Amino acid sequence: MTMVIEQVMPSLFWLILAFQFLHRVTGNAEGDALNALKTNLADPNNILQSWDPTLVNPCTWFHVTCNSQNSVTRIDLGDANLSGQLVSQLGQLSNLQYLRLNNNSLSGTIPMLLTTIPSLQVLDLSNNKLVGDVPVNGSFSLFTPISFVTKSLKIGTIIILARINYNCDKTYVGN
Ligand SMILES: *[C@@H]1O[C@H](CO)[C@@H](O)[C@H](O)[C@H]1NC(C)=O
Ligand SMILES: *[C@@H]1O[C@H](CO)[C@@H](O)[C@H](O)[C@H]1NC(C)=O
Ligand SMILES: *[C@@H]1O[C@H](CO)[C@@H](O)[C@H](O)[C@H]1NC(C)=O
Repeated sequence: MTMVIEQVMPSLFWLILAFQFLHRVTGNAEGDALNALKTNLADPNNILQSWDPTLVNPCTWFHVTCNSQNSVTRIDLGDANLSGQLVSQLGQLSNLQYLRLNNNSLSGTIPMLLTTIPSLQVLDLSNNKLVGDVPVNGSFSLFTPISFVTKSLKIGTIIILARINYNCDKTYVGN
């Protein structure tokens, strides 16, 4: 009996240590980034109720999709009655491919750090109250030029574009 415990304990110790390490580098970082978004938004319909930052990772949260490595690939929050501002922490979602936030009341600017997500494929920010410049560098440089109809969003104006789905590598829909 003692023999068995002595054999099992060290590997159990390393397993727990490895798990805590993984938890810290993958799960928490992306969960924290999304939680930063949540705390920055007003959510009258409680769409983000399942976004519990104490969970190991955000992969079980509603409106969030992960890959097999438990890294976030999709955020689907269109038509969610959300208001408030986007957060630069979204730039930490390094495997994000699809970010849909259309038809809300988001204000403020598009975080420049979104340009640092190389995997970003579809970005739909249409029908919001965003202002300022649309980034053109980094991952945004590969969005189709025709989708940048409103390159410089004038402060105070709401420019509404129809939802556009281009048959190309990347899609950006501004407001
Ligand atoms: C959005 O929230 C407001 C309250 O803030 C509410 O009056 C309205 O009905 C909501 N719209 C939808 C589509 O849920
Ligand atoms: C936006 O949401 C409203 C309800 O809040 C809905 O009536 C409208 O059709 C939506 N618009 C688009 C473009 O999805
Ligand atoms: C794009 O430019 C902005 C400044 O305008 C900068 O903050 C951001 O890091 C740049 N992105 C990349 C991928 O270089």
